[in-house]
Amino acid sequence: MKQRKPIVIANWKLNGGLDLICVSVASFIGKHFDADIAICPPYIYMRDMMTFLQFSELHIGSQNVSRFESGAYTGETSAQMLREAGCSLCLVGHSERRAMFGETNEGCRIKVQTVINHGLLPVLCVGENQQEREANITESVLYQQLHEGLANIELHDKDLCIAYEPVWAIGTGLAATPQIAQQVHQFIRTQLVELFGTATANRLRILYGGSVNKMNTRELLSQPDVDGLLVGGASLDPGHFLTICRQASDLAVA
Ligand code: 13P
Repeated sequence: MKQRKPIVIANWKLNGGLDLICVSVASFIGKHFDADIAICPPYIYMRDMMTFLQFSELHIGSQNVSRFESGAYTGETSAQMLREAGCSLCLVGHSERRAMFGETNEGCRIKVQTVINHGLLPVLCVGENQQEREANITESVLYQQLHEGLANIELHDKDLCIAYEPVWAIGTGLAATPQIAQQVHQFIRTQLVELFGTATANRLRILYGGSVNKMNTRELLSQPDVDGLLVGGASLDPGHFLTICRQASDLAVA
């Protein structure tokens, strides 16, 4: 039995299309899960997805969000717009956005607060790269990402998730071992205690991401501080993703 309700999020990145949406959503129709399940498709497909969702427990998430509310910011999408489109959570600061689109910890902090203010769930992504792990500075990298990315955040009793995604595990087939995941998640929870106090830190969910598949789901989620999963490649196969979600749901009540 998990201490916190598991959450499984599919990050489709720049993949998928209407066909995948139909097949994915159809596989969830009429099914109950004791875990929160969300899919983050490319923005353009959110509305298409919404129309199929009435008969499933799926949530829709976004892969990014603007730090701005409105104005002359070409190509941006605001938290308010996402909420109106039926979105319920936003990924913030995914490592691909940090590496390729110049996302900073300070930018992430602004996005996290904006997302909270609009009643959506922010999922702040953090994680070290291979070089940083080899240099033994994983904890100091995470410390900075968390303390800068969450400085002075006003939670107002709302929810917040952290996704630990070691960059070396993303898309490589080399997931972190359950032991590494637990060790790092425990470190992250200690930082959440410093930032928000013990009661809140014990309530917030910490997800693991990086080469998650149906073979490693159970062991990863069996760790006490692994409260959920952020799934990339495996989520593009609807049957595979459903199996991961089913395992998470079973562990929630086992
Ligand atoms: P993979 O599951 O393909 O390694 O991707 C992880 C990820 O980046 C999810 O956000």
